[in-house]
Amino acid sequence: MALRKMYLNINGAERLVVCDPEVDTLSDVIRRIGLTGTKVGCNTGQCGACNVILDGKLVRSCVKKMKNIKEYSTITTVEGIGQPNALHALQQAFIFCGAVQCGFCIPGFIVSSKALLDQNINPTRQEVRDWFTKNRNGCRCTGYKQIVDAVILAAAVLRGEKT
Ligand code: FES
Repeated sequence: MALRKMYLNINGAERLVVCDPEVDTLSDVIRRIGLTGTKVGCNTGQCGACNVILDGKLVRSCVKKMKNIKEYSTITTVEGIGQPNALHALQQAFIFCGAVQCGFCIPGFIVSSKALLDQNINPTRQEVRDWFTKNRNGCRCTGYKQIVDAVILAAAVLRGEKT
């Protein structure tokens, strides 16, 4: 085991982390430093619960080995999207639309939705569904309709068309 120290920019703050680059995944490191909003469901890259945004790209952190992460990479986890007393439009919309059932998959959906709206602020329902399919976001409670409703509502709010 060869441990390595490296700096990462996580949710806007520089963080020094210690990891075994050959063994640890990004989700291991994120959760070890206390950002447990990132969930690990399948741990094999299939469910999207562990989604984070790495240098502007949506990635499944459970299959991203630390040896493939560059020093000073920028990472956004669900904790970096809104705050408990200042929720992001997506988080407000998920609540408003009743898009949360057991909740385990929701951090991954929020991060995935943020990555979508960062590149397309006016998606159609089909584009939202296609995005989740492409990025393998899974909800075992199967509450997909309300999740799509929430993304469409949040997009309208972010465009300034709804409050
Ligand atoms: Fe990473 Fe399922 S926990 S994709």
